[in-house]
Amino acid sequence: MTDTKTAVAHTIADRISLISVSSTMKVAAEAERLRAEGVDIVDFGAGEPDFPTPQNIKLAAIRALDDNFTKYTAVGGTADLKKAVCEYHAKNFGTDYKPNECLITVGGKHIIFNAVQALINPGDEVVIPVPYWVTYKDVVNYAGGKCVFVETDEDRGFTVTASMIEPHLTARTKIIIINSPSNPSGALVDREEFQKIFRLASERGIYLMTDECYCRFLYDSQPYSIASMPGAKDTVLVVGSLSKTYAMTGWRIGYGLMPAPIITAMTKLQSHSTSNPTSIAQKAAAEALRGPQESVDVMLAEYRRRRDFVVRQLRAIPGVKCAEPRGAFYAYPNLGVVIGRNGIQNTLQLCERLLGEAKVAVVPGEAFGTDRHIRLSYATSMKELERGIERIHQFIVKNS
Ligand SMILES: Cc1ncc(COP(=O)(O)O)c(C=O)c1O
Repeated sequence: MTDTKTAVAHTIADRISLISVSSTMKVAAEAERLRAEGVDIVDFGAGEPDFPTPQNIKLAAIRALDDNFTKYTAVGGTADLKKAVCEYHAKNFGTDYKPNECLITVGGKHIIFNAVQALINPGDEVVIPVPYWVTYKDVVNYAGGKCVFVETDEDRGFTVTASMIEPHLTARTKIIIINSPSNPSGALVDREEFQKIFRLASERGIYLMTDECYCRFLYDSQPYSIASMPGAKDTVLVVGSLSKTYAMTGWRIGYGLMPAPIITAMTKLQSHSTSNPTSIAQKAAAEALRGPQESVDVMLAEYRRRRDFVVRQLRAIPGVKCAEPRGAFYAYPNLGVVIGRNGIQNTLQLCERLLGEAKVAVVPGEAFGTDRHIRLSYATSMKELERGIERIHQFIVKNS
């Protein structure tokens, strides 16, 4: 019998070429491949807590299952979870959002995607400080928007100020994205400066998107939301996530607090894509927000201990600079001392060599818009941090 199958030429839609594969995912996949081959890899690539989800949250999900809470919910999330989000935000940050200004999504990433799709027309500009979290760029490109990058100063801890942003604003600027504390640098925008950025944006009718994904993990200041400013609700777009705060990355629950017409537009979009986030995860999320919060403090104390260790050890490597992270759980050291040496042309090659030779997985700075850094997640055990940073140390000494 002859094979009648014909080869299919798969023509992928043009818009997919506007986005690239997330570099963080690429590193994770390569590290996983090597691990499967039995290679002893120290993994600093993953951007997720190494803690388990707290027990009270898991029990809420089990109860949801036992109660057969396993059907569709409202597209934009249950009324109860929206209420829990508004109350949580009010209690922690002094805001006064109503459930019709809230949307529950499949993780924080999904809120950013929905909001950008709902607001950006082709050619609209989105201002993004560098280094930036990879997803912003791709999501804006996918919507046909134009990313306008704002360089920051490593010697000032990569923080962004209103005066750095102002020259980049044009008649086409639609959104400014601020992620404080930041992935990948741990940089913080101080309260007064954040307020200046808010005024700069609101005076011009520009939306200020505040990605609060790491806002409970701060080392030298109290959690703060720019959405608590008087009048902020008109132009501030809050992006929230339970992934990091409650070690719930796999549960996929995020939320947005935004003007009601934008919530309505995003809900319409969501009704034709994911529909509601998983019903059981929504029950767990309500418990996370309303239940005991001690687990967050426990994680923060451990991250602080690791941050101090990581920064000290990285700065002890000859030629290496490391700005002090003021929040989140990433260090962003400058390894420029080995770029241009021994065939290492850029941070992509540096990370390939670190993985292949030192057996340490880290993410190249190019993914975040800078060309001399790597991102290292310290959401891993002290033992792994000791082993991994020692390996990086040896590698740098050998190659510089
Ligand atoms: C800055 C930032 N924002 C948002 C997210 C979204 O997280 P999730 O989609 O898991 O809620 C992440 C995850 O890494 C992040 O680093």
